[in-house]
Amino acid sequence: MKQVALVTGAASGLGWTIAEYLAQEGYQVVVSDISLETAQHSIAQSQYADHLHALKLDIAQPEDFHQALNWIKTTFGRLDVAVNNAAVTKATPVLEISADEFDWVTQINQRGTFTACQLIGQFMADQKYGRIINLASLAGQNGGTATGAHYAASKGAIVTLTKIFAKQFAAQGVTVNAIAPGPMDSPMVHEVVGAARMPQFIENIPVKQLGSMQFIAQTVALLAKPEAAFVSGATWDINGGLFMR
Ligand SMILES: NC(=O)c1ccc[n+]([C@@H]2O[C@H](COP(=O)([O-])OP(=O)(O)OC[C@H]3O[C@@H](n4cnc5c(N)ncnc54)[C@H](O)[C@@H]3O)[C@@H](O)[C@H]2O)c1
Repeated sequence: MKQVALVTGAASGLGWTIAEYLAQEGYQVVVSDISLETAQHSIAQSQYADHLHALKLDIAQPEDFHQALNWIKTTFGRLDVAVNNAAVTKATPVLEISADEFDWVTQINQRGTFTACQLIGQFMADQKYGRIINLASLAGQNGGTATGAHYAASKGAIVTLTKIFAKQFAAQGVTVNAIAPGPMDSPMVHEVVGAARMPQFIENIPVKQLGSMQFIAQTVALLAKPEAAFVSGATWDINGGLFMR
């Protein structure tokens, strides 16, 4: 039986790179996103399309997770790997963030990841196996450079939630880990930083380059392996030397 993976926010950006890499590795991958059309469009372009399955899933809606898990159970019978990647990134200056904007970012990034860990974690605990990988961020560790306070705070919360759910499910074969990337060579980073500021932005990174999305996908695949059973509650830093602990 082939392993089954679910990636949230997988229609584009890093989530898509992760989804396609897992498909290349032989997983059946559920490419879930708030935009079903974008997920379908990405899959249609891929040479691994027969391993990729589009699904609408808004991580701010707990009901969407219930429906997704029911569909996965009916279609594949199991779910081995979940990559909680979906997030919104806002770069509003801290004194200009409204209460509504703060709640919006928190509801998607923080509560969405909480709901995912809670519902998917229990599903995996019942089957006595699972690998959950949460996308945190360097911003959650150092307060952020190019991103907003609400985004950074939500990513810090994801590091904490990773530990809480790792403890909760440790004895049932389910590991929960996080990856905290620094700025990647991704469409989102190019959009937030902008072409004019980019040379100085890169100059400020100790290793003098943006991170590779492909390498993040490879790290996800490593943490997703059955052999990764001894890693749980960890946050793996991949940040070009911008933050060391
Ligand atoms: N790109 C980077 O340099 C970087 C650095 C650190 C952390 N991260 C994290 O990696 C993840 C992916 O980043 P990215 O650069 O690909 O982001 P992105 O903004 O390019 O893509 C986000 C994806 O999530 C989807 N999405 C948005 N809201 C959603 C919702 N409510 N439910 C489901 N899907 C939703 C979008 O449609 C999109 O496909 C995020 O968690 C981000 O915080 C990225």
